[in-house]
Amino acid sequence: MKLNHHFEEISESYLFAEVSRRVQSYRKSHPDHEVISLGIGDVTRPLCTAATQALVKASQEQGTQEGFHGYGPEQGYPFLREAVQSYYGTMGVQVEAEDIFISDGAKSDLGNFLDLFDRENTVLIPDPVYPVYRDTNQMAGRPIRYLNAVRENGFLPMPEEGMEGDIIYLCSPNNPAGVVYTREQLQKWVDFALEHEAIIFFDAAYEGFIRDSSLPRSIFTIPGAEKCAVEFCSFSKLAGFTGLRCGYTVVPHTLVREGMSLRKMWLRRQTTKFNGVPYPVQRAAAAVLTPEGLAQCRESIEVYRQNAALISQTLKECGVWHTGGAHSPYIWLECPGKMDSWEFFDTLLEKADVVGTPGSGFGKNGEGYFRLTGFGTPENTQKAMERFRKVFG
Ligand code: MLT
Repeated sequence: MKLNHHFEEISESYLFAEVSRRVQSYRKSHPDHEVISLGIGDVTRPLCTAATQALVKASQEQGTQEGFHGYGPEQGYPFLREAVQSYYGTMGVQVEAEDIFISDGAKSDLGNFLDLFDRENTVLIPDPVYPVYRDTNQMAGRPIRYLNAVRENGFLPMPEEGMEGDIIYLCSPNNPAGVVYTREQLQKWVDFALEHEAIIFFDAAYEGFIRDSSLPRSIFTIPGAEKCAVEFCSFSKLAGFTGLRCGYTVVPHTLVREGMSLRKMWLRRQTTKFNGVPYPVQRAAAAVLTPEGLAQCRESIEVYRQNAALISQTLKECGVWHTGGAHSPYIWLECPGKMDSWEFFDTLLEKADVVGTPGSGFGKNGEGYFRLTGFGTPENTQKAMERFRKVFG
């Protein structure tokens, strides 16, 4: 019997599990302190009315003979796939409903989609970036080349002369730096992928935060992407489904490599290993995508964007360099006083009782940086920023 020894090569715990472990231990030793978390990107606003009404109705249906639903289609109910298809339509993107796969969230699909690829493929992963991309490939022992995301390139790496790779991860709006690729930049990545027969894994989980209509919310708004990209998206950030769990992945039928259709392969993988998302959750997700549901979700997103604006304003007043926050819930800042990321994490926790996410957890280029999120409540964000000003102002 042999175990997967690649687990010995990855950090002992997942970034957000490690942050949570440290915060729990701090809370235990400081029981009278009011700790505010601006760390993990978890939402704080309740679900919108359209979603809760649909959830209640669908749950009640489940208790009736005529409305009961057992196993659903592995790819998701047609009513939700068609709702996602119409949502893409509002961006001017034509996606076939059969290319849409409903899942329990982008994180699972980003990891699971690797089942379709040989372990020898080389992956290109921005550094810093959402740690799931790195950890899942390290678990499989796949060779990784990091794309330097640094201040000089606005934390948005671009294809370079001599670059080689089979799988390319792009996240826009970006986690952790909160910055967004322009159409021209994404076009360059699409052209690169087409030329190298590579596949782009495009993580669009934060697309709902984009307010500038000239910025792309989907890779499929870029010509040629339907031949080289898969898009992972989620209701977590758009509609606060972090606790409900629902997302979708678009695998265009036009995506073919070595004579094999990736859409067909993913369908085969999902029908074998996945039994679908609960019926009431899918009904709630479909309600989110109605005009009424989207308007309600936008109200919540506006609250988060205002939190992010407040964080940005506070950092400006304190003379702290930062980016992000305009089309993203995340603010990416340089640790004051040249502290390293974990040092600043401890300082902020001990001096202000505020939790953030150390930049080094997202990759080596994240060292010396730190991420704060606008997903807190306005009251807590305000309190946290008052404390921040007192300590670092
Ligand atoms: C984050 O904080 O980066 C996200 O919440 C993680 C996630 O969505 O899985």
